[in-house]
Amino acid sequence: MGIISPHPLTLILIFIFTLPHLLRALTHNCSCEPPSPEPLPPEPQPLAFIDRRLAAVYPIIQRFKATITSDPLGVTQTWIGSDICSYRGFYCDSPPDNSSATALASVDFNGFGLAAPSVDGFIDNLPDLALFHANSNNFSGTISPNISNLPFIYELDLSNNKFSGEFPASVLQISGLTFLDLRFNFFSGTVPSQVFKQTLDVLFINNNNFMQKLPAEIGSTPAFYLTFANNKFTGPIPRSIGNASSTLIEVLFLNNQLTGCLPYELGFLRNATVIDAGQNRLTGPLPCSLGCLEKIEQLSFAGNLLFGVVPEAVCKVASLVNLSLANNYFTMVGPVCRRLIKSGVLDLKKNCVPYLPDQRSTAECALFFRHPRYCPYLASYNIIPCKLPPYHGYAPPRHSPRPNRRLVSYSALERRILR
Ligand SMILES: *[C@@H]1O[C@H](CO)[C@@H](O)[C@H](O)[C@H]1NC(C)=O
Ligand SMILES: *[C@@H]1O[C@H](CO)[C@@H](O)[C@H](O)[C@H]1NC(C)=O
Ligand SMILES: *[C@@H]1O[C@H](CO)[C@@H](O)[C@H](O)[C@H]1NC(C)=O
Ligand SMILES: *[C@@H]1O[C@H](CO)[C@@H](O)[C@H](O)[C@H]1NC(C)=O
Ligand SMILES: *[C@@H]1O[C@H](CO)[C@@H](O)[C@H](O)[C@H]1NC(C)=O
Ligand SMILES: *[C@@H]1O[C@H](CO)[C@@H](O)[C@H](O)[C@H]1NC(C)=O
Ligand SMILES: *[C@@H]1O[C@H](CO)[C@@H](O)[C@H](O)[C@H]1NC(C)=O
Repeated sequence: MGIISPHPLTLILIFIFTLPHLLRALTHNCSCEPPSPEPLPPEPQPLAFIDRRLAAVYPIIQRFKATITSDPLGVTQTWIGSDICSYRGFYCDSPPDNSSATALASVDFNGFGLAAPSVDGFIDNLPDLALFHANSNNFSGTISPNISNLPFIYELDLSNNKFSGEFPASVLQISGLTFLDLRFNFFSGTVPSQVFKQTLDVLFINNNNFMQKLPAEIGSTPAFYLTFANNKFTGPIPRSIGNASSTLIEVLFLNNQLTGCLPYELGFLRNATVIDAGQNRLTGPLPCSLGCLEKIEQLSFAGNLLFGVVPEAVCKVASLVNLSLANNYFTMVGPVCRRLIKSGVLDLKKNCVPYLPDQRSTAECALFFRHPRYCPYLASYNIIPCKLPPYHGYAPPRHSPRPNRRLVSYSALERRILR
């Protein structure tokens, strides 16, 4: 009894009162009169920019936005209106040539997953740009020669995209460039040797399709970090590498098609903490000069065709955390190196050292040594071009191996930026 149903009369009254509205609605919808004109949209207000430099780049950004075919994070939804400095991925600052102006100083699309057929006409038309970071997007095409017109640019990160074609030679004209990251793209052909004369701090070109003999000019580079890994570089490591002795900190030659013998000059790299030339076809002995790498932590020649004695001088380097010589054809190790094997610093698996566990078969070793291999400058292999620190044998000066700290060049072997 709680529910009071409406009186039938009430329903009839409601019907009668709404009937004219219904009829009007029906007739209006069915009439053939043209619908009354829509009110005109308001005149678009001209956008007010806080600086004319921002007004100038607004159409460039909007034109680029229209070419974007995928935006999984929806960042381009914020690219509206005059406040360019609050667009996601865009950063403003006062430009070097006018401290009272506000300009678009930096574009950071790292990890946005944007796809566009090209960035031409975009970055090269942002005249105040100092940094362009685009790690892990799906940009393709080639790089416009016009980027060399950007007066302030010093960091260019195009890593983990789908850029292709030749090495973007236009970057060679950018005199202030200090950071160039082209890793994980589809660049092919050769790397112009002038890039090693540029004042770069960082050059990451790993994981492309570069195919060429390593140029002798690499020794001219003032870079601290160099990654050639996972390309198709051929030929020997140039002797000129020794010229980079005061600057080079980490270098990865890993997984190319390098041949020939190790240059004695590699031992000049007294500031190097990482040298990895693993997975190539390098041959000959290890030069004793490597004992002069007084800061080396990671030293790898694993997976090559090296042979001979592992020099005790190398095993005495106190900073070593990982000396990887696995998968070669070494035949002899001394007591200091044996201690390193025991402590897990030296990996000498799959070599030809008699009575050491986990070595290649006698037949495999015999087959390798059937072909004699010669190195030029063999006399240099015994020279130690430094004063070795005293080695205290059983009272080891060895620092306990550092915890595996994040090394810059090895991070570059991952697609994403991991800062
Ligand atoms: C007639 O048009 C009005 C508004 O334009 C709409 O709300 C109504 O549903 C339409 N009626 C019919 C029967 O199409
Ligand atoms: C510097 O920038 C400010 C703000 O945009 C502008 O008003 C001024 O004219 C500029 N100065 C020069 C020398 O260009
Ligand atoms: C690029 O696009 C492909 C296919 O659309 C997708 O699988 C991939 O995750 C994208 N890459 C990035 C870095 O967003
Ligand atoms: C480079 O800039 C010039 C004029 O500044 C323009 O005519 C040309 O089309 C641009 N080239 C590319 C590839 O964007
Ligand atoms: C660079 O290295 C080469 C080969 O080791 C050497 O002949 C040359 O003198 C070096 N140049 C400089 C400037 O050190
Ligand atoms: C190289 O090492 C020397 C001393 O061994 C040091 O003075 C110099 O700053 C180091 N250079 C770099 C780039 O770390
Ligand atoms: C030592 O270096 C080799 C070659 O780079 C690598 O495969 C291995 O994982 C490293 N070992 C440790 C314990 O870091």
